[in-house]
Amino acid sequence: MNVSGSLTPPGDKSITHRALVLAALARGTSTVTRPLTSLDARSTAGVLRALGAKVDALRLGASVAIRGRGLRGLTRPRESLDCGNSGTAARFILGVLAGYPFPARVTGDASLRRRPMRRVTGPLTAMGAHFDEEGGDGLPIVVRGGRLKALEHRSAAASAQVKGALLFAGLVGKVPVTIHEPVRSRDHTERMLRALGVSVESDGTTVRLAPAESIPAFEITVPGDPSSAAFLIGAALLAERGEIELPGVLINPTRTGFLSVLARMGARIGITSTGETLGEPVGTLVARPTSLRSVEVTPEEVPALIDEIPLLAVLAGRAHGESVFRGVEELRVKESDRLTLLADNLRAVGITAEATADTLRVVGTDAPPRGRVETAKDHRLAMAFAVLGRAPGAAIRLSERASVAVSYPAFFDDLKRMTSRG
Ligand code: S3P
Repeated sequence: MNVSGSLTPPGDKSITHRALVLAALARGTSTVTRPLTSLDARSTAGVLRALGAKVDALRLGASVAIRGRGLRGLTRPRESLDCGNSGTAARFILGVLAGYPFPARVTGDASLRRRPMRRVTGPLTAMGAHFDEEGGDGLPIVVRGGRLKALEHRSAAASAQVKGALLFAGLVGKVPVTIHEPVRSRDHTERMLRALGVSVESDGTTVRLAPAESIPAFEITVPGDPSSAAFLIGAALLAERGEIELPGVLINPTRTGFLSVLARMGARIGITSTGETLGEPVGTLVARPTSLRSVEVTPEEVPALIDEIPLLAVLAGRAHGESVFRGVEELRVKESDRLTLLADNLRAVGITAEATADTLRVVGTDAPPRGRVETAKDHRLAMAFAVLGRAPGAAIRLSERASVAVSYPAFFDDLKRMTSRG
């Protein structure tokens, strides 16, 4: 396989969710340029519309105008708020609505309804919001918020969705919030709030938000998503010849842990910083074929590469030696049980792999990967195994491909554009 070409991956998912939520809470009209337009981003846009914010249709490559309602101006929804497949949408909206006195029912698809919500509703209850669960620790949940109290919270897991939800609750409720994390998770909410003039202090793994009266409307150009770029980089590493260039990608260090791991695996990936957008660093990544060696990933590294583990695991399946990913238990509560499914699917295509409660082991091989992969409609599993399917001699059948629309609708087109047999 050869690789070539240059493209900017779709807009960053984490930043798109946050930009939409903050624009809906701002005063005046904000402009979000080059937002992600995938199903997850549409879920957040749809929920905000149902709460009275005026959000343009999300169109690829376009600028979207959002007329915000101010911190306290969202209105009672007439229907359930459907977050689709998006954990970020669900957790953020629970945090925002904790500060509103009306009831709202939050729900999602079958995958999202299985995901834990008490990690968010627990601390929000301590702030004074009420939650009626319909099915235990998961959606649907009816939230009824109101006057909130200050919060000091110690998170059991490093989760930027939890951190973001609690910061949004503090912002809407106009109360101080302090969060201690075991390891620092991605810091987009903090950076964006600071860029909007809100006082948010970060001290190691602790974040402190001070109440603000309002946030101003803003403009942001959403950088390319490094989590989507990772799949194209993976294809370049597995190729035999060529080079790809990915300009305009977010290079926030709380997201680029996979690049450090790939460097330890022997990959030489060029990273050039080219600018900044609303407090976020942006740059160009260049990747070319590499012969990979095995790697050990530590629990402390996991939050900065949590979404890239499926891709790293398939690359480990082509590396020389045994790779170990420790402290990856959070993979069990993603869009699927990614820990079990990664090990099962690697074995299904002829790669030795084993999952324990919190660890994934993968033994690399040169033998062409062949077999059927069950994606469980999880976008990142589909993309990771599609990349592995580009290895020389591979014959991999995916149970479905449509799930890529959750985060990267044009994935298969882009993969085809950048790779050619030969
Ligand atoms: C996200 C945080 C991560 C990540 C998800 C997006 C975010 O989840 O897996 O895709 O935008 O904050 P956790 O924070 O729950 O680990």
